Amino acid sequence: MEVRVEAGDITKSHADAIVVNLFEGVTVPGGATGAVDAALGGTISQLIGQGDIRGKSGEYTLIHTSGKIPSPRVLVVGLGKQSAFDVDAIRNLAAGLVRYLRKPGIKTVATIAHGAGIGGLDPAACAQAIAEGALLGEYRFTKHKSKGNDDLDVLDFFVILEAGAAKLAAMTAAADRGAILARATNFARDLANEPSNHLTPTDLATRAGEMSKNAGLEFEVLERADMERKGMGSLLSVAKGSAQPPKLVRISYRGRPGEGYDLAMVGKGITFDTGGISIKPAANMEAMKADMTGAASVIAAMQAVAALKPKSNIMAIAPCTENMPGGNASKPGDVVTAMNGRTIEIINTDAEGRLVLADGLCYAVELGATHIVDVATLTGAATHVLGDTAYAVMTNNDELAGRVEAAAVLSGEKTWRLPMWKEYDEYIKSDVADLKNSTTRGAGVIAAAKFLEPFVGDTPWVHLDIASVDMMASEKGWISKGASGYSVRTLINLALAMVGQGR
Ligand code: BES
Ligand code: MN
Ligand code: ZN
Repeated sequence: MEVRVEAGDITKSHADAIVVNLFEGVTVPGGATGAVDAALGGTISQLIGQGDIRGKSGEYTLIHTSGKIPSPRVLVVGLGKQSAFDVDAIRNLAAGLVRYLRKPGIKTVATIAHGAGIGGLDPAACAQAIAEGALLGEYRFTKHKSKGNDDLDVLDFFVILEAGAAKLAAMTAAADRGAILARATNFARDLANEPSNHLTPTDLATRAGEMSKNAGLEFEVLERADMERKGMGSLLSVAKGSAQPPKLVRISYRGRPGEGYDLAMVGKGITFDTGGISIKPAANMEAMKADMTGAASVIAAMQAVAALKPKSNIMAIAPCTENMPGGNASKPGDVVTAMNGRTIEIINTDAEGRLVLADGLCYAVELGATHIVDVATLTGAATHVLGDTAYAVMTNNDELAGRVEAAAVLSGEKTWRLPMWKEYDEYIKSDVADLKNSTTRGAGVIAAAKFLEPFVGDTPWVHLDIASVDMMASEKGWISKGASGYSVRTLINLALAMVGQGR
């Protein structure tokens, strides 16, 4: 589907469906909705009068125009209460209406810029949210369905019509930006939804390499021998149990050539997490194919960074491996040494994410990143704390965390900060090594972050535990069922905001 902004009057559009809107409680439609109502001879007003259209959020009313206007269908979408209406609502609305309009016979859709008229919001912000929402709502993962799937009903064109010529340039640029953010998110979803037999660490590195080549990004893979040379004993200890070789992916973008790295994004890339010798129960284990969502997010964010070209140097680092039991797998009680010389006692082989991230973070530090954000499906406890409504933020630097949180707000993602008090350092002290990888004292989300902290040294760092939101049981607004796409747009918006190129 292609998203465009065009000049024009929606009543004259020849699209297969046109979309107008109504706030809850409005009885006399105005603006574009009023114009369409008048062209239809008052059909919308009549439906409002009958109580069929109430303007409630999530309400869709499809009207057949019987030749009264060029487009054969009008969709009236409810905007809900005007007091609760914002850019997030527009993004969700656009996603919902694309899902709704995915019917036989509908290939082209034209919509007014919801929010920009009587909504009173910035037209460019509205255009971006509509483009983002439309493309995020379009997403489905159907690649492994054989014939007869419902993927046949797809929209080709999604046009945002704007009558005011003065706003067109800004709205077009914003819609283009929204499309870039959404397409990167959908790339991350594709990777995270992919079953682990179709996405080994090698496959993940290959997909990242293809993207990098197409986007003109610098691409590097550290192989097992490279990891050994660098002393990445923590990452290697996880890879030991698997028949698949580990890969550490690095993708770099240089918007300030010749200078150092302003930001490293480090993502957990466990292409399947069985738990290892501390094996997981069978129930829901299939969800562990998405335990590389952090890696997918940082890799996909680079695709957008390459397109949006911020004036900064940014890299993604993704330590990728399976976590498998086997004759050569790590065992509880084993002690391993990370790249920075810290020794780790492996209490639970299922706390493998922090082990691979430890060396990933060391590598980011070695490459000179001045700011680090890591993203990981790290702890089941994240869901106990926040449900599937938000993800956890932990940091050694309040200023950087504030920037990440602002980027999340801009993306329509909810985050919540958890404390990093020094008392929690006790939770991960080992009797035999410098650190242990799990605790029996509770605060599992924080303990995991505390484990990571020594591997970034003094570098300002933010840890995002997205295990609460990476996979969703159902679709809702911009969020897709299965791999949700959480954190991708936050990372991109952060990268832009850090150099004043954000919205
Ligand atoms: N990948 C899991 C965390 C996870 C669980 C993500 C559920 C998404 C949904 C992680 O590697 C893990 O197993 N964590 C353990 C840590 C524990 C052993 C300290 C957990 O949360 O149980
Ligand atoms: Mn695990
Ligand atoms: Zn895991």
